[in-house]
Amino acid sequence: MRILTQEEEKWVEAILKKITDKMVPVTERNRDRIPYTTVDGRFDDKSESEITWWTNGFWGGEMWQLFNLTGNEMFRQEAIGVEEKLDRNLMISEGLDHDNGFKWLPTSVIRYKLEKNKESLNRGMLAAGNMAGRFNPAGNFIRAWNNWDNVDRRGYAIIDCMMNLPLLYWATEETTDPRFKVMAVAHADTAMKTFVREDGSVNHIVVFDPFTGEMTESLGGQGYGVGSSWTRGQSWGIYGFALSCRYTGDRKYLETSRKIADYVLSAMPESWLVPIDYRQPADVDLEDSTAAAITASGLIELADLLGDEEGADKYLDAAIRLLKTLDEKRISWGLETDNLLNNCAVDYHGDGHNMSIIYGDYYFIEAVMKLAGKALTIF
Ligand code: GLY
Repeated sequence: MRILTQEEEKWVEAILKKITDKMVPVTERNRDRIPYTTVDGRFDDKSESEITWWTNGFWGGEMWQLFNLTGNEMFRQEAIGVEEKLDRNLMISEGLDHDNGFKWLPTSVIRYKLEKNKESLNRGMLAAGNMAGRFNPAGNFIRAWNNWDNVDRRGYAIIDCMMNLPLLYWATEETTDPRFKVMAVAHADTAMKTFVREDGSVNHIVVFDPFTGEMTESLGGQGYGVGSSWTRGQSWGIYGFALSCRYTGDRKYLETSRKIADYVLSAMPESWLVPIDYRQPADVDLEDSTAAAITASGLIELADLLGDEEGADKYLDAAIRLLKTLDEKRISWGLETDNLLNNCAVDYHGDGHNMSIIYGDYYFIEAVMKLAGKALTIF
């Protein structure tokens, strides 16, 4: 990966200062919470309303990144508070699923890596063991979600899971027991074959027969429809396959990440404001800033893994362009709101549009910190 130009370095330093100037007072006025979104500019609190919600690790991850950046103990205390609150989730089995990675990597696993404390190791291993229990050997996939609303999801796998696999890779590194990694690799191989299309775009949901393992269909999921290209799903694919390369050293995952990235760059609108789906109708202006931030962080991961290889720079250039576009057009830097990113979206067809979402802020901060060489490796 090329080194940053002086102008880029100055921009990165200025953004880190803006992040710190905002997030110190915002955190001070939101102590002891687990935010997901904002209501009238103020963070909500999922620890009160929904402790099992899949995004509940991101505020902890943001706090650890900011602690690493500033050394301010308040951020560490808040991160530990999130981790301890999540213990309630460990006792609610229907609220545990493949997203154990999103919840316990940015809380217990990163704290254990930093502080080597026994409680965090226990939590991380409980989360990893439960996730490993979701592996279906008939189809070599990790079941994503549980059944709610009377939908049978025994055979569901989703592209997002690629971001959860590091929990299993970590469990093998920590215990030397290969089983966790074997399952992660088997899932990654299945995902390569069944999610990634010829043109590099990816499905959101793939359904397998849970008894025979045969793939039965793909679903549009949170995107526009069957065969469409949900932007956040594409970003999970770029980032997630790059991570499988980092944890295994296997180049085929790097090539897969690159293939998805090339598709995404070919579909990027001129404005570099990312839609909810790269194949949504042309007259629809719905956006998802979370997809922009995750894509940027994933592209930096990809560029870093490619190192000096030809073509790596274009991924770094694209990441910086996405982050600069967010900075200029889609971030509230003032203290009138708790969130950073605006114009985030849950999905295409629901009503969660034009809102703030915590993981958008997390991945924006992570990406800028990566550019500065100051990010913690949480995923
Ligand atoms: N993992 C669910 C989502 O990205 O919305």
